[in-house]
Amino acid sequence: MKEKVEIVEGDITKQEVDAIVNAANTSLLGGGGVDGAIHRAAGPELLEETRKIGGCPTGEARVSKGYNLPAKWVIHTVGPVWGGGNRNEENLLAGCYKNSLKASVETGAKTIAFPGISTGVYRFPLERATEIAMTEARKFLESGEGIEKVVFVCFGEKALKTYQEVFARVFG
Ligand code: APR
Repeated sequence: MKEKVEIVEGDITKQEVDAIVNAANTSLLGGGGVDGAIHRAAGPELLEETRKIGGCPTGEARVSKGYNLPAKWVIHTVGPVWGGGNRNEENLLAGCYKNSLKASVETGAKTIAFPGISTGVYRFPLERATEIAMTEARKFLESGEGIEKVVFVCFGEKALKTYQEVFARVFG
């Protein structure tokens, strides 16, 4: 199981996987952070497609093509804004990972890369978000749903260290 998980430091737009996950907002019309990087790398056709999708509720996922990205698909998911922990943030974030994995299998993707959803502008505490990410990935991989590899792409040293520590705890 653990051999199906990879933790890398770098830029998610460069990942050679079938699908990359975008930490989007409910409009799906682009933004800063990883959303901005993905739209810049994919090119203007991505926005044309996401405009037609017409938005995405927090915790859910929508699929688009990858255009100029190495990845064939982009799974747009909307993480919760951290508001202290009493606004169902943890379940919503778990939903982002669950629904993104489900959506990627439905498109036929075998390999998928995630950024740290909600851990930037949305201020979700990094360690707790990483535990949720790893736990949902483990549950999905245990269900034998056909995903061959889940890559967690960390942006910076601190995130990399946290992901490695949490991976050891969750996957043993
Ligand atoms: N590759 C991988 N990870 C990245 C990249 C990148 N190119 N750029 C940023 N990150 C990391 C950030 O360091 C952070 O750890 O992705 C994580 C998510 O940060 P944000 O992009 O700020 O996403 P989020 O916290 O979910 O906030 C979403 O920000 O960009 C807007 O439109 C977006 O409104 C939405 C909000």
